[in-house]
Amino acid sequence: MRAKLNCAKEAVKLVEDGMVLGIGSGSTVELFLKELGKRIKAEELEIYGVPSSYQSHLLAVEVGIRVVDLFQYPELDLCIDGADQIDSSLNCVKGGGGALTREKIVASASNKFVVIADESKLVDVLSMPIPLEILPFAYGFVAKEIEKIGGICNLRTGKGKVGPVISDNGNFIADCDFGEVRDPKELESKLRGIPGVVENGLFCGMVDRVIVGTDDGVRFLEKL
Ligand code: A5P
Repeated sequence: MRAKLNCAKEAVKLVEDGMVLGIGSGSTVELFLKELGKRIKAEELEIYGVPSSYQSHLLAVEVGIRVVDLFQYPELDLCIDGADQIDSSLNCVKGGGGALTREKIVASASNKFVVIADESKLVDVLSMPIPLEILPFAYGFVAKEIEKIGGICNLRTGKGKVGPVISDNGNFIADCDFGEVRDPKELESKLRGIPGVVENGLFCGMVDRVIVGTDDGVRFLEKL
């Protein structure tokens, strides 16, 4: 918790008055938003934001961010988001919270993409199951296609509701186990090629900087 808070606080320093933010999702982003809210209040800042989930939308409103959309602002200044795993080339797995599709959109729309994560997220090789957002109509077909490329597709089921997790976009979320992902870029492009896959949780070559939170402070990883 302390490590997450440290990177969240550091990210708040990057925000300038008048900026339009891409806002990720998850518990680290939640801390970021709460800290940013304190600055907004104290310095009377005007900050605009496009949230990537209902979670961050509700919180953004609560902390005083003016929620806008990509119709109004197709280009964003800065995106702040968490990650589930990050390798040494700054490729990430995201989507533990099921918000991967909008997260990838706001990150892509932003001039700068900064990931905030505690150091437990750093790995040599990405290896966790890759979250996919899948059109429900296509699920059976997609699961078979995933098997053909060496993965095992597990439909995510949630708490507080029986049956599949339904994303903020009304789709299924599945976690696809490929073991160690030695070539994330190649896998990402294969996943992109499957009809019915709305988005995948591999974020390759997108991150400009990672703020790594530790119990004592932060350190930075920069895109080469
Ligand atoms: C949400 O879909 C994810 O991509 C989150 O950004 C990721 O799961 C990190 O979450 P935490 O900050 O809660 O670890």
